[in-house]
Amino acid sequence: MNCKHFGSCGSCGLYALSYDEQLQQKEQSVSALLAPFYEEKLEVFDSPSSHYRARSEFRIWHDGDRCDYAMGNATKDGAINIDECPKVIKPIEKRMWKLLEMINASTEVLKRKLFAVEFLATTTDECLVTMLYHRKLDDTWSEEAKEIETLLDCKVMGRSRKQKVILSDEFVTEKLDIDGKTFSYVEYESGFTQPNPVVNVKMIEWAIKQAKTTGEGDFLEAYCGLGNFTLPLSYYFDKVLATEISKNSINAALKNCELNHISNITFARLSAEEMTDALQGERVFNRLRHIDLQSYNFSTVLVDPPRAGLDDASRELIMTIDNIIYISCNPETLARDLVTLTKTHKVVEAAMYDQFPHTPHVESGVFLVKRA
Ligand SMILES: C[S@@+](CC[C@H](N)C(=O)[O-])C[C@H]1O[C@@H](n2cnc3c(N)ncnc32)[C@H](O)[C@@H]1O
Repeated sequence: MNCKHFGSCGSCGLYALSYDEQLQQKEQSVSALLAPFYEEKLEVFDSPSSHYRARSEFRIWHDGDRCDYAMGNATKDGAINIDECPKVIKPIEKRMWKLLEMINASTEVLKRKLFAVEFLATTTDECLVTMLYHRKLDDTWSEEAKEIETLLDCKVMGRSRKQKVILSDEFVTEKLDIDGKTFSYVEYESGFTQPNPVVNVKMIEWAIKQAKTTGEGDFLEAYCGLGNFTLPLSYYFDKVLATEISKNSINAALKNCELNHISNITFARLSAEEMTDALQGERVFNRLRHIDLQSYNFSTVLVDPPRAGLDDASRELIMTIDNIIYISCNPETLARDLVTLTKTHKVVEAAMYDQFPHTPHVESGVFLVKRA
């Protein structure tokens, strides 16, 4: 990918290296962190080097009557205006510049106190545009924003303090072909979504490859989000219990289960800490009264925690389960957690997925099996 803003925009930091060099550098750093636990070569999953991000947020810079998209600068002490951003997927790229023209051509209504625009798009060309304001939005705004929906064939939402204006929907529906099946996922503007759909599919297929080796039994998942891994992996297990802290994500997960006609998954809104307490019989939750926790016989667990990694109690809980699939967006906390997990389990597969090209961030995964 080439971008005229490399070096001045703070969003992409690894611009000085070719894409292959970046990948090699990331592979070396993840391999070094995992070396005490895994001596084989990592499986490496690359990304398209441009047009890979399906969600992006841009600030709006006002100069007199004109608005421009802006990003934090590389020195982190201000912002720069941008007029290209080749990392966003085509469904965003084809709309974002037309949207800017429409904002600039409009009366005050779309422009006044607009401070950011967010895009959430799918590989099937759906796009949700959220316009964020420092003022209350009224019917005149809704009328003009409706025109954007028609002209750009997208969904538009407006947000300001304590106000959310939904003109048609607050979600898009992604369709992904995963290991020979097609899955539909509703993705809400406010919920977590994996940013790079091409790499996301590779990551889910890697997890399926591990699940296929564990055979039957039940499947436990923590940090399940909208059911990104849960739905495709549910085919390889008898029953599934999946938990997540965010109410919005659990609602999306329930919808996704229905949309894909999957009936062996139970979703519960629980933090990882609460899930551990519930499964260890230390706390009783009203939210779980319809679930017979004793009926599960977990053979496999998948965790995909935020950057902080796992807490002590969750680590202990998953160590009681034979097979562990650990997906991580921070190889340092993954390595820290492996110090404990490898006391009872052995890492048998490890992979790196380049979800975030042109940045130092990297996603990795390990598959652990209980030692005999
Ligand atoms: C890296 S995301 C992964 C989501 C999902 N696995 C996916 O692939 O889309 C981490 C998820 O953990 C959730 N989360 C954050 N802290 C949590 C906690 N303490 N307990 C449970 N879930 C948590 C977030 O809401 C988010 O959905």
